[in-house]
Amino acid sequence: MESTKPTLASLTRSWFNLSLFNSRRAGDYFEYLVQGIDPMWSVTECRARVLEVRDETADTKTFVLRPSASWKGFQAGQHLHISMEINGARQTRTFTISSLPQEWEQQGFITLTVKKVPDGRVTPWMHEHLIPGTVVSISQASGDFVLPTDLNESLVFIAAGSGITPIASMLRSLVARNMPVPSSLLYFARTDQDFIFGDTLQGLSRAMSRFNLHLIAADGGSKKKSRSTLPQGFISADHIRAVLAGEPQTVYICGPHPFRELAKQLLAEQGFPQNRIREEAFGLPPLPRTEGAPVTVSFSRSNASTTTDQPGTLLEMAEQSGLKPTSGCRMGICYTCKCTKKSGQVRNVITGEISSNDEEDIQICVTTPISNVELAI
Ligand code: FES
Repeated sequence: MESTKPTLASLTRSWFNLSLFNSRRAGDYFEYLVQGIDPMWSVTECRARVLEVRDETADTKTFVLRPSASWKGFQAGQHLHISMEINGARQTRTFTISSLPQEWEQQGFITLTVKKVPDGRVTPWMHEHLIPGTVVSISQASGDFVLPTDLNESLVFIAAGSGITPIASMLRSLVARNMPVPSSLLYFARTDQDFIFGDTLQGLSRAMSRFNLHLIAADGGSKKKSRSTLPQGFISADHIRAVLAGEPQTVYICGPHPFRELAKQLLAEQGFPQNRIREEAFGLPPLPRTEGAPVTVSFSRSNASTTTDQPGTLLEMAEQSGLKPTSGCRMGICYTCKCTKKSGQVRNVITGEISSNDEEDIQICVTTPISNVELAI
């Protein structure tokens, strides 16, 4: 039987572990040492190295990343948070994974396809500075915008702009399984040049008779015959009627908020049940202009406050006050921005839900004040 009596070596090891890992400063120091040996090593988080950068459209690039061994993989359609140090501050954003789970399992890489937001703080930096060899931090993958486990009937996908990224992963995953159910994709972009993965999608539709592709350009496009038999322009009842003819099991929608709302309205008008729609948020709804009295948001830990009669999100208001609260996706997905509201009422800009006056944790990227509010920032 193995002895349980502690040896000098095990006591020394325990002390060393306690000293290093139960102290934040010691842990940080150890992380610093490890980083000096190899930036891919970390005792606290997953890392990924950029292997390659590909141009997709004029404003969209695909970053091929090799995650460290501690990364656990993903299902097609899921997202992750990526963190980088930009001008001395850590910035985190959320992106869906555009590659296939099999590519990760067999070749050890994933891809993130990122559209540059012209006035953004992070995506322009990524386009300029994330070059092969750069190491970034990534979270494990999460999200429930994934394919059903029991595939019985046809699927419909509706995407706009960079909302194609999770859907491309799901479609390629279906193709890798020899397209077990018929699938249709309605993909809307501004012009012919703005279809991300346009050639890949057209290749898939030529190879798979059970995949119906409709590339719809808002400006009318260049009338290439292979793109779609449906009208070009904005999403309309004609598009929705055409894809519902196959009586789909589920409709997946991904794109900006107004686009998703319009797509859901058109589906409802055709009698498609709401509980068979899955959607992934890309961007927040516009905040309404208000006529109410000015509200004051005070940041108790920073001894700062701001007063306005046209409040934005609490995250924006904190940043406009010169504060730097931690944030990630900025659209209510990652919970990185969660903080304590000490008092006051806020509205969730996605659900419309209004909070009580009580102390509670809120996501400041998707809440706007409707009374004076105190935050523990
Ligand atoms: S920053 Fe991701 S939920 Fe607020």
